[in-house]
Amino acid sequence: MSTEPKPAFSPGLAGVIAGETEICWVDPDAGLMYRGYDIHEMADKASFEEVAYLLLNGQLPTMGELQRFRMEIAAARPLPKEVLNMLRLLPKKTHPMDMLRTGVSMLAPFDPDLNDNSHDANIRKATRLIAQVSTLIMDGYRISLGLDPLSEHPDLTVAGNLFYKLNGEVPQDWKVRMMDTILILYADHEFNASTFAARVTASTLADMYAAVTSACGTLKGPLHGGANEESMKMLDDIGTSDRAEKWMMDALAKKAKIMGFGHRVYKKGDSRVPIMREIARDLGKRVGKEDWVPICETLEATMEREKHLCANVDLYAAPVFTMLEFPPALNTPIFAASRVAGWCAHVVEQHDHNRLIRPRSLYTGPEMRPYKGVSPNGAKK
Ligand code: COA
Repeated sequence: MSTEPKPAFSPGLAGVIAGETEICWVDPDAGLMYRGYDIHEMADKASFEEVAYLLLNGQLPTMGELQRFRMEIAAARPLPKEVLNMLRLLPKKTHPMDMLRTGVSMLAPFDPDLNDNSHDANIRKATRLIAQVSTLIMDGYRISLGLDPLSEHPDLTVAGNLFYKLNGEVPQDWKVRMMDTILILYADHEFNASTFAARVTASTLADMYAAVTSACGTLKGPLHGGANEESMKMLDDIGTSDRAEKWMMDALAKKAKIMGFGHRVYKKGDSRVPIMREIARDLGKRVGKEDWVPICETLEATMEREKHLCANVDLYAAPVFTMLEFPPALNTPIFAASRVAGWCAHVVEQHDHNRLIRPRSLYTGPEMRPYKGVSPNGAKK
């Protein structure tokens, strides 16, 4: 029947090079680079805004450019009142990722640059999205608890605001530094599923909000961003390190997928894990919760012995967010508050060098068969 030879096929697009990018490189041997800079160097010293600027513009900012970028983000934070009202209309049990996806979609028509896909307009939209994704998450969360959103604190950075908007307390410097590192680790990861979804949407020349809405929907799934919420449920269930090995053996015997383990690209370990593990260790000492790291380490050792699979960043991100006093439902949204910088950078790059992303599929349905119409007695032919 087929008029073409059987094409090469890679389930899940594994190993397929689906495009070029100058933004980020994931080294399967456990490295990660943003625009030529090793994240290990930046994670310690850079701010999230500096990295977001780098991802969007290709160069690190000067002091003046960074200051201006921070001010633009701070000024763009408040949501239109119509969007706040929409968040209030959602059922109280709405997951924060669903609030975020709906909120990003509703923000679109409020942006004066919405349908301008030029480079400069896209950078302006990206700045607004980086600001407002955080606000949607934190305002939406307070609204879901029946509380009023807190007004903005323009002097705080993206990292500082995530804490401030939770409870109105200006966070200590070490917490802000820690959050900057976490946001830097999550900011981009080349053609991960949500970024690819954003690029597919952008490749039709749809606008940046449409692309980020697609990305939010894609990030939610537990095989992708949703894993950091699911990992926390698992760690809570395990409870203490002496239970971790047996828990893992039982789960593997049931052929369960263990959240926070495995990765499509990294084969020798996730380059972000050592940094996130050290944050978890440091935080454990600071807040007196030192058992999370041994639980994770026991799980890691058991998984390595049994299946030769490595932990990914979400395993350690889960207890880190918990120790920073964020509820687990905000784990994936905070990931989004960072990854939005990467999504937007990829949309800019896609629009600047666009070609429609439209792969083929391998047809596995029935052979060609005659159409006989609907049977008069309703029986299937
Ligand atoms: N727990 C148990 N087994 C796992 C596993 C995990 N977390 N991740 C992979 N495996 C096993 C699979 O069962 C499969 O084994 P098999 O060949 O015996 O069937 C093998 O490893 C390959 O896994 P596969 O799901 O095909 O790899 P993938 O590249 O398609 O998937 C992930 C990558 C990340 C989706 C996958 O590892 C996963 O589901 N991890 C858990 C979710 C998670 O932490 N996501 C965050 C990623 S950063």
